[in-house]
Amino acid sequence: MYIVYNLFMSEIVIVSGSSNTSLAFLVAKQLSTLPAKVEIRKFPDNEKYVRIDSDVNGKNVFIIQSTYFKPDEYIIESALLASAARDAGAASVSLVVPYFAYARQDERFKPGEPISVAVIAGLLNESGINGLITVDVHRHRILDLSSVFKGKWINVSVMPDLAKYAVANGLIDSETVIMGPDGEAIQWAKIAAESVGIKEYGALQKKRFGDEDVEVRGDINIKGKKVFIVDDIISTGGTIIEASKLVSDGGGTLKGVACSHGLFVNEALYKLYNEGITNIMSSDTVPNQTTRISSAEALSKGILSIVK
Ligand code: R5P
Repeated sequence: MYIVYNLFMSEIVIVSGSSNTSLAFLVAKQLSTLPAKVEIRKFPDNEKYVRIDSDVNGKNVFIIQSTYFKPDEYIIESALLASAARDAGAASVSLVVPYFAYARQDERFKPGEPISVAVIAGLLNESGINGLITVDVHRHRILDLSSVFKGKWINVSVMPDLAKYAVANGLIDSETVIMGPDGEAIQWAKIAAESVGIKEYGALQKKRFGDEDVEVRGDINIKGKKVFIVDDIISTGGTIIEASKLVSDGGGTLKGVACSHGLFVNEALYKLYNEGITNIMSSDTVPNQTTRISSAEALSKGILSIVK
């Protein structure tokens, strides 16, 4: 299904950063357009060069840039593209950031640390970005990104599409309990459950001791039940592995796992499969071998809601 936008709306220009050009193309297609002509390359000394070679004067520019694997490089690239669009007379410049890196450092956990998400938001603002669209952005201590980003912020969710995919493939049925592996994941479990009419959902509790060292606990009755786990991010896989152990220790059967953003670093997928965890699915905010659904439609709806 493609969206035909109102002819009276100011024109939308999609500018693709280099992180996820396929997704940018899909979003542009949803909006019945094509990505703008852009040149992005590196100087011999590794610095980035960008140039927008399409007319953006008076138009609403949306830069699509998912900040995974090379977050620092993609953030700088986005800032350069935004500044170029602003200087070329764009009516507004928004960053569509399907996977928003640095969102997890939303607190000074130890003295001497920065609140990284606030630093990145400020940098985006400084470069002329006044709209931000995220997908299931990590929200734990900072629930509302508007407290660190000046401008319009919209978060869209791919959880409903992931849950529908799981239903269509027999991994969730009316008897399934949808479970978040930690306290803040209750929001994802709720969205997933409600979107497919599941009544029973809940969340476990997690303590993090290090990058790959977590402890998951919970006091929920899953004996004899089918369980489906949902989370925003799978990074090292540690959280899901610990949660799955709790499911089997509690007498439940894990039917599958869905995350919005599948980073799967440090051979996480191998580790998950090795623990017997299968039916893992994710969206294309971070393209990977478990990607089953696209975020393009949700993102294009977010874009239209900013332009209106
Ligand atoms: C953090 O609380 C997130 O919601 C995820 O649970 C976390 O990022 C997963 O990380 P990992 O896969 O490394 O345990």
